[in-house]
Amino acid sequence: MTRIGFGIDIGGSGIKGATVDLKKGSLAADRVRIPTPQPSLPEAVADTVAEVLSAFDLEPGVPVGVTFPGIIQHGVVLTAANMDPSWVNVDVQELFTKRTGHDVFAVNDGDAAGVAEMAFGAGKKTRGTVMLTTLGTGVGTALFVDGHLVPNTELGHIPLVGHDDAEKWMAESIRDRESLTWEEWAERLQVYYSTLEFLFSPDLFIVGGGVSKKHENFLPLLDLRTPIVPARTRNEAGIIGAAVLANEARAGQEGKKKQKGTAKTGKKKSKDGTKGGSKAATAKPQKSSKG
Ligand code: BGC
Repeated sequence: MTRIGFGIDIGGSGIKGATVDLKKGSLAADRVRIPTPQPSLPEAVADTVAEVLSAFDLEPGVPVGVTFPGIIQHGVVLTAANMDPSWVNVDVQELFTKRTGHDVFAVNDGDAAGVAEMAFGAGKKTRGTVMLTTLGTGVGTALFVDGHLVPNTELGHIPLVGHDDAEKWMAESIRDRESLTWEEWAERLQVYYSTLEFLFSPDLFIVGGGVSKKHENFLPLLDLRTPIVPARTRNEAGIIGAAVLANEARAGQEGKKKQKGTAKTGKKKSKDGTKGGSKAATAKPQKSSKG
């Protein structure tokens, strides 16, 4: 595994990036932040991502992880609740790879934050069902079952009684906009987390996003049977998680290439007419026996 990775966190107001120490799970250099272009059109955001990268002396082969505040399926944006709607159906991985010259791996921002917390933060070594929520402009979620991510859960948008879309009622941005007291906000969070608890019976809730720095003001006000703790990687979680995932994706690709190579060899040597499938790819090369 490469020791240094790179992560970029795209948000509605800022695009932040930094090199990441993949062993320690921390930033390896001060992060660079550039305001998100308004409107946040794909081409303009791609330029800003390239600008963030150019502030670092990054070796050519290093894969770059990028978070996006929407559903990302196989590199393609499917929703953009807090970004320009023209993002929908854009292959963000392809766009950024072409623009930056680095292999880019794109991931939902909540999922990236969750990966960082499970690897290095409050979820480290926690089995069972772990649910991370990020409280910010929107509400991001990441669901883990025995350490495995179930991607793109989008539980920030569940309907709650009297409200079509949870995040439009209980996100951190709403607390700010409506100048809610901690107690008033906690009442909304109580409804939200009780609903998630009823639906998923998690073993642990982790709360991320900038406001998790002030967790003493609201987490103790919640009454849940599930332990609820602040994230440890805080604002850097997206950058760290994206870098980890980009590195894993690279390792996966290299593994596949190796397997293909072995499969081809197996196919050529096979005399019994069987196709070189995944078993052939993992089988030890057989010495040909005479007789
Ligand atoms: C988006 C999610 C995102 C969250 C936090 C929501 O509005 O739908 O994809 O993770 O905001 O940015």
